[in-house]
Amino acid sequence: MIKIEAIFRLCRFEAVKAALAKVDVRGMTVSEVKGCGKQKRAIEHYRGSEYEILFHPKVKIEIVTLKENMNKIIDAISYAARTDETGDGKIFVSEIAEVVHIRTGQRD
Ligand SMILES: Nc1ncnc2c1ncn2[C@@H]1O[C@H](COP(=O)(O)OP(=O)(O)OP(=O)(O)O)[C@@H](O)[C@H]1O
Ligand SMILES: [Mg+2]
Repeated sequence: MIKIEAIFRLCRFEAVKAALAKVDVRGMTVSEVKGCGKQKRAIEHYRGSEYEILFHPKVKIEIVTLKENMNKIIDAISYAARTDETGDGKIFVSEIAEVVHIRTGQRD
């Protein structure tokens, strides 16, 4: 099993959700997160004062799935989340050591 963690723009969430449904992804965890990439910090003005934006709001989707599903899921997310502007996001893939189904105690 692997975990795919995708962090991308909030405005692309509906498109990514639809793309994942098309490749039969059902189980997932969704969070609103804040983060930063490589770019310099942005400055925002509010009531005459300057504020440095250290972290940008993003959405994070976590999907644990079989390794054989990895490429189609990555392709679906990348295509749906892309705007071609800096800050489109990142996808991280890691190995999952164990999955436990709480109700039944089943492990696989
Ligand atoms: N090295 C990292 N570790 C963990 N999270 C990261 C990392 N890099 C980026 N992120 C997360 O991904 C989000 C989007 O990052 P972003 O797309 O700006 O990355 P980037 O490397 O600067 O690429 P780009 O050139 O497209 O801006 C960040 O807000 C942060 O939440
Ligand atoms: Mg960036």
